[in-house]
Amino acid sequence: MAYSLMGIESNLANKGCERVELLHQANGRRSAFVRQDEETWHVQDSESVSLHTAELQERLVANFGLNYDRLVCRFSDHEVMYTLNQGEVNMTHKPLSQEAKSGAARREWKALTDALGIPRSKRRHKLKQAEQFAHIVKEGLDKADNREVRVLDVACGRSYLGFVLCHVLFASGFRPWMHGVDADPVLVDKCHDIAGALGWRDCVFEVANLEHYAAEPGRYDVLVSLHGCDALSDEAIRIGVDAKIPLLFVAPCCQQELRRTWGPHPLQWIRYYPVLEERLADILTDGFRSLVLEAMGYRVTALRFVAPDVTPKNLLIQAKMVSRPCRDRAAEAKEFQRLFSVQPRLSSLLDRIG
Ligand SMILES: C[S@@+](CC[C@H](N)C(=O)[O-])C[C@H]1O[C@@H](n2cnc3c(N)ncnc32)[C@H](O)[C@@H]1O
Repeated sequence: MAYSLMGIESNLANKGCERVELLHQANGRRSAFVRQDEETWHVQDSESVSLHTAELQERLVANFGLNYDRLVCRFSDHEVMYTLNQGEVNMTHKPLSQEAKSGAARREWKALTDALGIPRSKRRHKLKQAEQFAHIVKEGLDKADNREVRVLDVACGRSYLGFVLCHVLFASGFRPWMHGVDADPVLVDKCHDIAGALGWRDCVFEVANLEHYAAEPGRYDVLVSLHGCDALSDEAIRIGVDAKIPLLFVAPCCQQELRRTWGPHPLQWIRYYPVLEERLADILTDGFRSLVLEAMGYRVTALRFVAPDVTPKNLLIQAKMVSRPCRDRAAEAKEFQRLFSVQPRLSSLLDRIG
């Protein structure tokens, strides 16, 4: 049965509507669509091509009431929510928060983006990545208001992501605290300068090599890592697992390890096509990372956190700690290692499961 979603057409036609989400309140299922331009939407968690607004509307109507019982249209300062309740659709219109609406919030955002000092040519894309990433992290947190959220940002660089994330969390009623780690002392100094310019005290930054880094267990609620090159995303995952961080959000960058080290494998012919070989190695690397995380007791979602024209490196591995280590996933990961005659860095985590 299709439900009537009053006003959905005009909500989607309104360019201020930046993001639409279908949700199932009880089982946590979620599908998100991010506006790409006036007429097209990018499907966040699947490989499908973009949807035209009319196609999105059809999809929303077809799924609402079937797999989902909530639909949210997010604007910069308010959201429109459709809720299914005992066969009735209720529509509510709510400001995101008093703060988000206010000029003060806009001034804070401007102060933040000025302090970050991102070159004008890169500003729109850098901020878009950080904002979308930050909103996904916020959605992953439980909603207890005024809760302290301790964030570890690894390979933080100038910590654009960390600062934007703290801003988004703060505006949503959380009390964020951030710890950024990077090997480059110049960038870490830059982070101190930014924090100083903003007058933020709830953040610390540290110069350290992630290859030998261990975070204090139980100290953090969330680990984030944006575009750590090559094996840095593996180090981020290892650090998060070792420190028992309940939520990990890792957006990998380039990676070389698998392709450099794999031995004879069943898809040997792929080497005739180097571009495809590189893509296969990327997919298998991120697949293996996801499998290892599941083996270590996390539930993993791999999604595209931002439209590909903002960055082609738009895969986000989102992992939530849910249970004890899973032997089945560990066995599948080991089978992959056997088939591709490879011993990726993260395989050391599997050895602990036995
Ligand atoms: C591509 S940048 C990403 C920076 C930031 N997360 C962002 O998205 O803007 C990769 C960062 O990793 C840092 N890095 C490289 N090797 C490292 C290592 N072994 N340990 C810690 N950080 C490292 C670099 O200094 C750089 O800041």
